[in-house]
Amino acid sequence: MTNFDYYAPTKVVFGKGTENQVGELVKEQGCSKVLVHYGSGSVIKSGLLDRILQALDKAGVSYVSLGGVVPNPRLSLVYEGIELCKKEQVDFILAVGGGSVIDSSKAIGYGVENGGDVWDFYERKREATSCLPIGVVLTIAAAGSEMSNSSVITNENGWLKRGYGNDCCRARFAVMDPELTMTLPKYQTASGCVDIMMHTMERYFNQEENLDLTDGFSEHLIRTVMENAQILMKEPDNYKARAEVMWAGSLSHNGLTGCGTAGGDWASHQLEHELGGMFDVAHGAGLAAVWGSWARYVLDGNPARFAQFAVRVMGQTEGDDEKETALRGICAMEEFYRSVNMPTSLAELGIHPSDEELRELAEKCSHFGKRTVGCIKKLDQEDMYQIYKKAL
Ligand code: NZQ
Ligand code: ZN
Repeated sequence: MTNFDYYAPTKVVFGKGTENQVGELVKEQGCSKVLVHYGSGSVIKSGLLDRILQALDKAGVSYVSLGGVVPNPRLSLVYEGIELCKKEQVDFILAVGGGSVIDSSKAIGYGVENGGDVWDFYERKREATSCLPIGVVLTIAAAGSEMSNSSVITNENGWLKRGYGNDCCRARFAVMDPELTMTLPKYQTASGCVDIMMHTMERYFNQEENLDLTDGFSEHLIRTVMENAQILMKEPDNYKARAEVMWAGSLSHNGLTGCGTAGGDWASHQLEHELGGMFDVAHGAGLAAVWGSWARYVLDGNPARFAQFAVRVMGQTEGDDEKETALRGICAMEEFYRSVNMPTSLAELGIHPSDEELRELAEKCSHFGKRTVGCIKKLDQEDMYQIYKKAL
């Protein structure tokens, strides 16, 4: 087990009707002007945005609003948000939406508080020293951005999707009403569930001597999301299942399931981010499409860990041959993905990259040959190309 820091400062306000508290929650922050940031229309259609604005009016909080965030949120809107915040002297951002809206809010927050080009942080050219404070009203259980220190932005110039992590962007509060997620299309619900599972799986696949407690949390969290994802495919209005998944989404990415793991692997995420940047796919679906290919490619790097996953998470019987047990576990996970209509290949994801595009994906993922990703096996540009190719 390695030493670790666990830092989860976000106040969570969870349950039915909690969005009605948002006016008071924002007021408590002592800010003078709020940017209400939202996506491409779901919050207008559901009436949530109106209710949030009414709650702010009632609490006497003044605000400006900016909608239009798209999945795989774009840098151009971030720049627009930064200018708006500066012009309106905004000192707090309320993100009403999912990972894309929250990540766009974090990027705007960095841009307002630090001089120069905000993209520098995503290119790892320098570190942000602060971020405007952020509050969240979550509408989809998936990315875990409501409690994470990370944000992921797509630069249209080159279609590069890059993540940046810094504790100063962690949300001050997150309002989570599971009922708000009942309007999600099934595909987004399932894609979100995969992302939640993957945030724990990325940490679970590591090369450390792991804490039993962290393993136990992780295995139970993944099984819980699998069970409830299947319930939600049949009963999208099942409140308990929505609640289980929503809370799992936050715990899966707030650091809890990484305690003692030295971070974990994260190669599948890095491989997927390039797919999102170039082909604009839903993040969780992209993860499902590459995971099996990644798992088989790196399996020899730690067959014991994959075998433990097969037995404790995927319910496989333990065979004499670790690798054979491990492979059964990988197949079982792919079967699960199919059971919730998630893809297990790029073709099923709906994209058919040419060989040249596969090379481009690998080139971008390796930051043009400058980095490796993953710890089960350190993947270089050629490995990345092979994994994409086997995922076709
Ligand atoms: O834009 P609107 O109209 O709101 O529609 C959204 C969007 O089309 C829709 N939606 C959200 N809530 C809804 C709803 N539709 C009906 N009813 C509701 N209640 O769902 C679609 C997806 O929304 P998005 O915010 O993109 O989803 P998600 O939370 O999965 O976020 C994905 C983004 O987060 C990044 C991903 O890479 C991707 O860009 N990630 C962020 C992380 C972080 N900051 O910690 C970690 C993750 O690994 C991930 O990389
Ligand atoms: Zn993710």
